[in-house]
Amino acid sequence: MKIMVVGGGGREHAIIKKIKENKSVTEIFALPGNGGIAADATCINIGAKDIENITQFAVTNKIDYAVVAPDDPLVLGCVDALEAKGIPCFGPRANAAIIEGSKVFSKDLMKKYGIPTAAYEIFDNVEEALSYIETAPIPTVIKADGLALGKGVIIANTLEEAKEAILSIMKDKQFGESGNKIVIEEFLTGPEVSVLSFTDGNTVVPMISSMDHKRAGDNDTGLNTGGMGTIAPNPYYTDNIAKECMEKIFIPTINAMNKEGRTFKGCLYFGLMLTPNGPRVIEYNCRFGDPETQVVLPLLESDLLTIMKAVTNGTLASTEVKFKDENACCVIMASKGYPTSYEKGFKIDIPEDVLENVYVAGAKLNEGDLVTDGGRVLGVTAVSKSLTEAIDKSYKLVNEIHFDNAYYRNDIGARAMKAAKENN
Ligand code: AMP
Ligand code: GLY
Repeated sequence: MKIMVVGGGGREHAIIKKIKENKSVTEIFALPGNGGIAADATCINIGAKDIENITQFAVTNKIDYAVVAPDDPLVLGCVDALEAKGIPCFGPRANAAIIEGSKVFSKDLMKKYGIPTAAYEIFDNVEEALSYIETAPIPTVIKADGLALGKGVIIANTLEEAKEAILSIMKDKQFGESGNKIVIEEFLTGPEVSVLSFTDGNTVVPMISSMDHKRAGDNDTGLNTGGMGTIAPNPYYTDNIAKECMEKIFIPTINAMNKEGRTFKGCLYFGLMLTPNGPRVIEYNCRFGDPETQVVLPLLESDLLTIMKAVTNGTLASTEVKFKDENACCVIMASKGYPTSYEKGFKIDIPEDVLENVYVAGAKLNEGDLVTDGGRVLGVTAVSKSLTEAIDKSYKLVNEIHFDNAYYRNDIGARAMKAAKENN
């Protein structure tokens, strides 16, 4: 089978490595992939948003199955375009990807179907938003409606900050057209959990839970990033909470999307906050999380491609989805200065026996050498019986990888370790 994976980050590298385990796979193409992914797939220089050329490539090369991983092409209708050419795909169509593409849509969906989330108001007029905020509880959370590279959420701790956020999103268009509408929502507190799930529109199968570390610095300080590391499973996500989430959030969401005529097939990501009043949805993503995928898929015991095809064919209910009873930790090695400015082009040295633990996010090949080419350069994942061992192992592997200006957090998993101790 010839497989095509759209995307080019650490998440896509993890998906590709897992798909490769299926014996029927003869070739994997990554569009565009990256210098590290090139060790596991044939990289084709077509951007992930270039739907016309992606579709043409798939047709010309007789692709048997396509996986569309990033949010942009999903929201833009990449799956619709490929399906129109008869190519089976993993990923939601545009009418379902809107669950991530528009926060206004997802908030209204949750309100309509009674799915627990933060209370909110929607505005498409700056003056009305500014007048509302005068009497709103502070801190407050201000979100641009559309995709904003994961940066469209501002937590305002003072009235002044809230006003600045409204003006920068709606008036100065900090996130472009994504800020035509905004959501102003209740500030919630509690541990966050990421739950990725497979769904074919009828059945929803949650994967093992995980915890992201979004801030750049140790102890959750510094700027928000795309994610500096992950662990799985998330110790805050107990069996009882999982059951409650299934009943009150996961199944109701799948049903709601069906009722709206927007059946969701693919990976639906639930970003949850475990508040003192119960679990709340913070966000939906229409795709695998990054870097959650880099800890979730290494723990998947069942065959990924078989599951993906079952999602496409609507046979997920009769397909085995089994996870190892183990723990995983992924430490992201970034370029010093990320997420603001950083230098690129430094040679990356990875010992041969460490390669299998590495998921490359931002690197390219330069005359045969792998060199840094992005803010997040690579993720290093270790799997072990205990969380402590998984953390220790991944940091040992990190110490074996070298590139100039490498930066990583030293405390990935520390909060989870504390929670795990409190549970016992
Ligand atoms: P999002 O891009 O929606 O995932 O939001 C980014 C981060 O902002 C989340 O991971 C939370 O840490 C935080 N956040 C979003 N919404 C809220 C909220 N209503 N209350 C508190 N924190 C929030
Ligand atoms: N790690 C968060 C995300 O993928 O959106």
